[in-house]
Amino acid sequence: MVDSRTDLAVSLDAEEEILPFIPILLQDLWSLGFSPDLALTILKRNFPATPRRVLDLGCGKGALLIHVAEQLGWNCRGIDIVPAFIAEANRIAQDRRLTNLVQFEVQDMVDEVEMNRQYDLIVFGFDSESLGPLTEALSRIRKRLTTQGHLLLNTIWAQPGRSQGEIATETDTLSAAKDAGLYLVDREILDRSLVEAQNASNTELIRRRALELAEKFPAHAAAFHAYVQTQEEESRMLSEDVQCACLLFST
Ligand SMILES: C[S@@+](CC[C@H](N)C(=O)[O-])C[C@H]1O[C@@H](n2cnc3c(N)ncnc32)[C@H](O)[C@@H]1O
Repeated sequence: MVDSRTDLAVSLDAEEEILPFIPILLQDLWSLGFSPDLALTILKRNFPATPRRVLDLGCGKGALLIHVAEQLGWNCRGIDIVPAFIAEANRIAQDRRLTNLVQFEVQDMVDEVEMNRQYDLIVFGFDSESLGPLTEALSRIRKRLTTQGHLLLNTIWAQPGRSQGEIATETDTLSAAKDAGLYLVDREILDRSLVEAQNASNTELIRRRALELAEKFPAHAAAFHAYVQTQEEESRMLSEDVQCACLLFST
């Protein structure tokens, strides 16, 4: 039985105790995962400007889909399990007059992949096992793709030549995709110095909110402090131990 709360905590690198405070801790950030720039580069490079139906599983505050709708004019659906993220995504879509192209909804991705809808492109960040280990997650997602559909996968793998305990290697990742019936079409590796700079700036914004919250809710002060430390460790790991990969697969 999948425990969504635990998976959500893993996905957000947070203790369950502070999950209710996550929207406040992350309130100064729009993009909560990889920066949308590389995903947009890959999409523009590989697809003509035909309208497509896109689904983002775990869209956060909708940073990628808002850009996709604005720049490519595709029809987008974003789902996320955190209502505050979806509220913010909808607010931004309304501000930018994009509600005809983008719909955001509170939904668990576990339920979403069981729905009988098909998409030309699905975006998925593999940061927890909500949908199971990678091959299983990709197989479940693949069922929602049209015959010539594509998957855009954001993931990390160990730096080449450096064993990183439980972190998958590039070979593990590509063979998991192949086992799920997905074939690599294009890829980008995020620039290490950009990852470092982006994470340093995000961690600083989070640290300020954590200090404010620790004053307001002293009973959780240790958990807020631990969250900032986890962010620092995560930032170090992302820029030193692993590569952040944005991969486009076809069915
Ligand atoms: C690392 S964040 C990335 C968010 C977004 N893709 C972005 O780049 O800004 C992971 C997202 O997955 C969402 N999430 C985690 N588990 C989920 C689930 N079971 N169903 C839907 N969303 C989930 C989290 O709430 C969070 O917004």
